[in-house]
Amino acid sequence: MAQLSPLLKQATPVVVDHGEGTYLFDSNGRRFLDFTAGIGVTSTGHCHPRVVAAAREQIGKLIHGQYTTVMHQPLLRLTERLGDVLPPGLDSLFFSNSGSEAAEAALRLARQSSGRPNIIVFQGGFHGRTVAAASMTTSGTRFSAGFSPLMGGVHVAPFPYAYHYGWDEPTATKFALRELDYLFATVSAPNETAAFFVEPVLGEGGYVPANTEFLAGLRERADEHGILLVLDEIQTGFGRTGKFWGHDHFAVRPDVVLIAKGLASGFPLSGIAASRELMAKAWPGSQGGTYGGNAVSCAAAVATLDVIQEEGLVANAAERGEQLLNGARLVGDKTPAIGDVRGLGLLVGSEFTTADGKPDTATAQAAQAAAAERGLLLLTCGAFMNVVRMIPPLVVTAEQVDEALAIWSDVVASVTK
Ligand SMILES: Cc1ncc(COP(=O)(O)O)c(C=O)c1O
Repeated sequence: MAQLSPLLKQATPVVVDHGEGTYLFDSNGRRFLDFTAGIGVTSTGHCHPRVVAAAREQIGKLIHGQYTTVMHQPLLRLTERLGDVLPPGLDSLFFSNSGSEAAEAALRLARQSSGRPNIIVFQGGFHGRTVAAASMTTSGTRFSAGFSPLMGGVHVAPFPYAYHYGWDEPTATKFALRELDYLFATVSAPNETAAFFVEPVLGEGGYVPANTEFLAGLRERADEHGILLVLDEIQTGFGRTGKFWGHDHFAVRPDVVLIAKGLASGFPLSGIAASRELMAKAWPGSQGGTYGGNAVSCAAAVATLDVIQEEGLVANAAERGEQLLNGARLVGDKTPAIGDVRGLGLLVGSEFTTADGKPDTATAQAAQAAAAERGLLLLTCGAFMNVVRMIPPLVVTAEQVDEALAIWSDVVASVTK
């Protein structure tokens, strides 16, 4: 009998039958509050009726209109709709299926357009699992160990992760920018550096928001040296942080934006956005793929954008995010086992730390598992997997946030007593 690969690590024992909004239901009819949203994907909740209707209608018309052979309406409509929400000047789009593919497309664009070999990434960043994307990923060696050699030309500078360094944010930011300049002087000369790849909030790396000064520092250096600033908005985009883009919190101008996850409410769809001039500098034929811009995914994405706008989901993410962060902070304040609670919008992380200041993976994992037993699905993240993260869909209600916080408070008390 065939089995699933044992290398797939399951965060919860739940076998899902169906999903509805913020809930998942298992095969026995048990209800779970889903504060994982499929790793930040189901922005409009599970099976939002408008997304389901759009996908159903599209399936009856055309499923696969391979986009380097023919063009189809959902892709054209989505491209036009994204034009209304993309950062100014990013008016050219390429679509793919997964976040990793989008990261690789941006990598090709950066190298081909500049003729430069090197990429600078920021420690703790996650850009995917394919070999080039894994080469740019530094959120944990589990994503890159054992299949070296990785792609060359990737260099790593610090991210201002203040809690990790034990500093305040301005000190961590100054350090990160100073080390970046040191990297320029010692490892990757500016005129050999094609791009910076950075997340507005470290996702897999532990839910650590960047800050205005840090991103302004990157922008300044990018402008000075002709380096592209690539913002990976795969987890932070489409309202997740309480503003449409994660980087909207920091007033920074990107040259390239990576999109996926919340874009299509669960249908596989990703992409990159850049200016037409920049796209035109890469090599013809370097963008493509069999499944990219799938018609059903694109129809679902258009419906997702409608729902985000018409149901005010960005504002809801901001309000519910504040409620969630404040509540998680109150839980954190009650125990020394939680050293830091942080986040932006509906991305909230609680970092577990031992009495002697070390990452406390065991307690974080115990809390995550106990929450699942109590009907609240959560995930862990961070290099040491000691950060428990909450990422409910953007449709989450105040009552659901309260219910989740009550469970969280109980399980933290039970695993830390
Ligand atoms: C910021 C970020 N970039 C890239 C990826 C990779 O996306 P995928 O798993 O679809 O390849 C992820 C996935 O978690 C992500 O959070």
